[in-house]
Amino acid sequence: MNKVFYITTPIYYVNDTPHIGHSYTTIACDVLSRYQRLNGRETYFLTGTDEHGQKVSQAAKAAGKEPQQLVDEVVEKYKAMWKALNIGNDDFIRTTDPRHEKVVQKLFADLHAKGDIYPGQYEGWYCVPCETFYLETQIEKGLCPDCGRPLEKLKENTYFFRMSKYQDQLLAYIESHPDFVQPLGRYHEIVNFVKSGLRDLSVSRPRSRIGGWGIACPFDQEQVIYVWFDALLNYISAPGYGIEPERFGRVWPADVQVIGKDILKFHAIIWPALLLAAGIELPKKIFAHGWWTIAGEKMSKSRGNVVDPLKISAQFGVDSYRYFLLREVPFGQDGDFSETALSARYQADLANNLGNLLNRTLTMLEKYFAGIVPDPAPGRKTDETLTRLAQALPARIEQHLSELAFSLALERIWEIIDAANRYIENKAPWKLAKTDKEELAAVLYNLVDILRLVAVYLSPFMPKISQLMWEQLGLPGTPAELEITKTSLNQFPGKTRILKGQPLFPKLEINEEGARCS
Ligand code: MSP
Repeated sequence: MNKVFYITTPIYYVNDTPHIGHSYTTIACDVLSRYQRLNGRETYFLTGTDEHGQKVSQAAKAAGKEPQQLVDEVVEKYKAMWKALNIGNDDFIRTTDPRHEKVVQKLFADLHAKGDIYPGQYEGWYCVPCETFYLETQIEKGLCPDCGRPLEKLKENTYFFRMSKYQDQLLAYIESHPDFVQPLGRYHEIVNFVKSGLRDLSVSRPRSRIGGWGIACPFDQEQVIYVWFDALLNYISAPGYGIEPERFGRVWPADVQVIGKDILKFHAIIWPALLLAAGIELPKKIFAHGWWTIAGEKMSKSRGNVVDPLKISAQFGVDSYRYFLLREVPFGQDGDFSETALSARYQADLANNLGNLLNRTLTMLEKYFAGIVPDPAPGRKTDETLTRLAQALPARIEQHLSELAFSLALERIWEIIDAANRYIENKAPWKLAKTDKEELAAVLYNLVDILRLVAVYLSPFMPKISQLMWEQLGLPGTPAELEITKTSLNQFPGKTRILKGQPLFPKLEINEEGARCS
């Protein structure tokens, strides 16, 4: 049986509404899984919500709600956001799902039975917003070294995970799998961190201090399991670890786990150490992307600069938003989000380049061929540049997407769009209409043929736009149903009646509230 392509996002905290940062990871994963499906591969694309932890219980308290009530409300906002952004996840895990809680308790008990979880006392500092422990030597003035907020001093009974025991095994694994952590800079960061020595990790908290919110330790009712131990296991609980062995075997190991750079250590150190302890294969790749800032500042509620993906999508269209996030900044690097930059890409890349190419081509087909695509004449003139770019495209996209280089993949597609627009300028079909009807037919055929290819490769990135292109080109079905083998040139069915419709990217109206497509 074929291995399913398994891709994960982090599971998001439900203490707040989703913003552009959360949508970034999820959109990136959506593109990768759509691309795999386009290639005929079965996918298991998992996202979900991280519902336990002090952060969530404190947010509930502040809102005067029970934690369960808060999480049930916020999870709906996530689900609605993913629907609005056209995210095609195959599953959605909540850490309050019984299917998840069972696995967490079982693994906690197994590691305890094996001696890898042992009782002790934790003395140190804890950051609630980061849900992270820090050593005295890591902090200054009682502030969190990561987020700068005040820490809590803790001295309490706990259970430790014997992470130190897995240090050498983990280092050996990482060093023999140079693709395990990406991008490369992050890989070196992790190697150095593991070399500097791993300490055992506190993996439970006294129920008396944090209240009952969390998964109970199966053999000690006084203790609740640490939220990161709980959360990381979602990646194996959802595909059925220990419960549905056959399904789990088809899905695991994850092909790629996409995260933000802030949670790299949890995923590239604690997570593989837990898997090593449990005797489970490690994921193939952990990819840490960069962060979006707003006018150079971190996004935060207190600064009032949090960007709402739904608002931006209402202004520019969902696909323009998806395009911008993945085109503007190389995945792995930080970037600054602004409506001005999005507006510029909308005008230049989308409306003037892609939109215009489709519009001009269809207008000329209507004008010169009554809206019917001419048959592809054997031996007709083709364009060398367009043919070369089109032939190279599948392998290039494959290469870039296997490296999560979304912006490069989009650049390759736009190279073709640029070349097709130049082809129109060079061929001047409006002149051929008077002099050479045969060549005119060839030029227009070559253009729809290229547009068809562009729609196929754009479909993972811009599913709605590529579908609209497909329909306007008069093609049946959807571009995403197409097997990739049919993406060579000369596949456009002759005599197709095109259906020119509304522009793909309507003009932006700019007013004092900003831009909006009309
Ligand atoms: N619940 C944990 C993850 C547990 S996974 C087993 C968590 N949740 S989170 O909601 O705080 O963040 C989820 C993801 O959103 C992280 O990958 C984080 O990097 C990403 N982002 C949050 N703000 C971001 C930006 N401003 N820019 C880009 N991504 C950012 O951490």
